[in-house]
Amino acid sequence: MGFYIDRIVPRLVDISCGLKFTEPTRRRVCAGLHGRVVEIGFGSGLNVPFYPPDLDSVSAVEPADLGWKLAAKRLSVSPVTVDRAGVDGQSLPFLDNSFDSALSTWTMCTIPDIDAALREVRRVLRPGGTLHFVEHGLAPDAGVQKWQHRLEPIQKTVAGGCHLTRDIPALLTDAGFDIRELDVFYEKSTPKVVGAYSLGYAAAPPARL
Ligand SMILES: C[S@@+](CC[C@H](N)C(=O)[O-])C[C@H]1O[C@@H](n2cnc3c(N)ncnc32)[C@H](O)[C@@H]1O
Repeated sequence: MGFYIDRIVPRLVDISCGLKFTEPTRRRVCAGLHGRVVEIGFGSGLNVPFYPPDLDSVSAVEPADLGWKLAAKRLSVSPVTVDRAGVDGQSLPFLDNSFDSALSTWTMCTIPDIDAALREVRRVLRPGGTLHFVEHGLAPDAGVQKWQHRLEPIQKTVAGGCHLTRDIPALLTDAGFDIRELDVFYEKSTPKVVGAYSLGYAAAPPARL
């Protein structure tokens, strides 16, 4: 699987996640990012053109070396400073409370231990800092859910560990985030099994005394 995961999947992600229909969604989810930002699952930098230009910096977390290489052109014309600062969302190399915002787009489906990753995002966000997200996950309808459960093993194999049945709002709430805005909808341009989207932002809780 090494060659497929290292050399093929990042290119498939670049092509499939780079389709034109994703752009309005990327624009929506990036609106309101501010200050110091951590992006989990940076991929090939497809969000870079949609970052607000006045961000202080973006710390990109991405395991795939090829994804980072494919981002080069986008990074070269971006007014925002972006560093590849980490390789695993499950263990972030940052101090507590060090970011104002976090960004995750179609990544919570793939990180193996998503609970650990959300704990880490919560830790590195300052209290009140916001996680902006758009993710596909468990559909609202039982009929679609049935197919998601059936197809998930295939999806995980061909799409680099991508799950179809994660309940994104529940995961965020269980991790202690306060969901401030949430839009759940089917993306019209994709089959419903991969097109049940949750888009919004959630705030990290106040610091414990
Ligand atoms: C479907 S892609 C989405 C990429 C990008 N966010 C986008 O919107 O185009 C999922 C991404 O999660 C990354 N990923 C997988 N495991 C990860 C982990 N443990 N920590 C951070 N990112 C991870 C993959 O390498 C891949 O780039």
